Amino acid sequence: MIRVLTVASEIFPLIKTGGLGDVVGALPRALGAAGASTTTIVPGYPAVLDQLPDAVAVHHFTDLFGGPADVLRCTAASLDLLVVDAPHLYARAGNPYLGADGLEWPDNGIRFAGLGAAAAAVGTGSVPGLAFDIVHAHDWQAAMAVVYLRFHDGARPGTVVTVHNLAFQGRYPASLFPRLGLPDSAFSLNGMEYHGDVNFLKGGLSYADRITTVSPTYAREITGVENGMGLDGLLRYRAGVLSGIMNGIDDTVWNPATDPLIPARYARARLGKRAANKAVLQRRMGLDESPNALLVGVVSRLTSQKGLDMLLDRLDDLAADGIQLVLLGSGEPELEQAFVSAAEWHLGAVGCVIGYDEALAHLIQAGSDALLAPSRFEPCGLTQLYALRYGSIPVVSRVGGLADSVIDANEAALAAGVATGIQFWPATPEALGDALHRLLSLWRDRPAWEQMQRNAMAADVSWRGPASRYVALYRSLLADRS
Ligand code: ADP
Ligand code: GLC
Repeated sequence: MIRVLTVASEIFPLIKTGGLGDVVGALPRALGAAGASTTTIVPGYPAVLDQLPDAVAVHHFTDLFGGPADVLRCTAASLDLLVVDAPHLYARAGNPYLGADGLEWPDNGIRFAGLGAAAAAVGTGSVPGLAFDIVHAHDWQAAMAVVYLRFHDGARPGTVVTVHNLAFQGRYPASLFPRLGLPDSAFSLNGMEYHGDVNFLKGGLSYADRITTVSPTYAREITGVENGMGLDGLLRYRAGVLSGIMNGIDDTVWNPATDPLIPARYARARLGKRAANKAVLQRRMGLDESPNALLVGVVSRLTSQKGLDMLLDRLDDLAADGIQLVLLGSGEPELEQAFVSAAEWHLGAVGCVIGYDEALAHLIQAGSDALLAPSRFEPCGLTQLYALRYGSIPVVSRVGGLADSVIDANEAALAAGVATGIQFWPATPEALGDALHRLLSLWRDRPAWEQMQRNAMAADVSWRGPASRYVALYRSLLADRS
């Protein structure tokens, strides 16, 4: 077994704000089956500490960036966890990254440098009895682990950085650098210096032995100026160690045949039972309870990445075509307000819930006829994978992991009987409108629709393939270092 220390700022079911949490929570079991054991180190936010049975302190820092800290070890939700209990960094209610005012905590640089430093200490053997071959850091919040390991005196494990979203980099003024406890050489063009600032993700991408991202298409896209978010030059330079590994889904959590969060469970052969979920969803969201209306769902963070402003632009047309819409989301206040107003304006046709609701997310997958993800960019996207599994037809823009996971219902795919959804491009309101018209004509052709639903539900969106690709990557990295 390859021994992996995973470093992350979220892990489902303990703490989740988006897909990162789902992935970090699901990977350990899949990797276990493929030949790698995982211990995951996460910050001790109150929501995490509240859910730890029998945690034992295995390491103590007298001063981890401004206060004492313990590393706790325990098993929770079948996950082998190390939790950095550092009250001065993490004992704050609510969102892991934002204060109640919706703004980033001003000391996020120090908070996640603390996670990285703790992970590097554990990764190099500070905890007796715990040794690791690989340290695998997810996103900028974990990337400092790789930077600290690069400057560690003595042997270190192999390092991997996975980029879930290049838009977030952890960029701070140069005045933070002296507090990080790194040699001056780290603050250079070849390290974590970026236009005079420190950039945590850049540090990780510069120093990691391997870089992955969460779909093959996104791996290509981020080496170009358009989607490189200012790091495309570095990513082109490191293209030899960069690869894309698609995410899977946790089918113990997302499986319509066993899902405890939906009213009527169903399988591919018993699609008729979905109708009961649709009726419950319509009622819950204040929509007309019409079985024949095409019901489109959205479950999303409300940010410009997700392209939902384009949907707002098309709402009048949608309603005129008799299409219903349900949206569950939270994020930018202007978008939240716009959807609340839209629901009031299109009473009975548009329903929205602003907030975060895991159970409603499942009901939308099980009760909607189609699921919309019109992102401007999308590293992988999980909601379209859940939609495939639940027989809700994904309608997606042709970017990143959306492009890699949905087979567009074009003439050839329909003739071959392999279509699983609809792709559109460019990411404009017009192209989105056209896609919804195509969706509506398919909806009116019930046999074609049901064929597409069966195809979608048969698509392999499991972690099996991806997990074996991660293990192959770990093996090749270890072979290079031996
Ligand atoms: P991202 O990580 O960019 O937000 P993904 O599609 O990868 O996008 O993952 C989003 C995850 O968060 C999915 O599990 C989705 O169901 C969930 N999610 C997003 N918004 C909400 C919400 N408002 N309520 C419940 N779950 C949500
Ligand atoms: C990020 C991306 C999303 C991806 C998720 C999990 O939040 O925005 O596309 O699915 O990470 O990898």
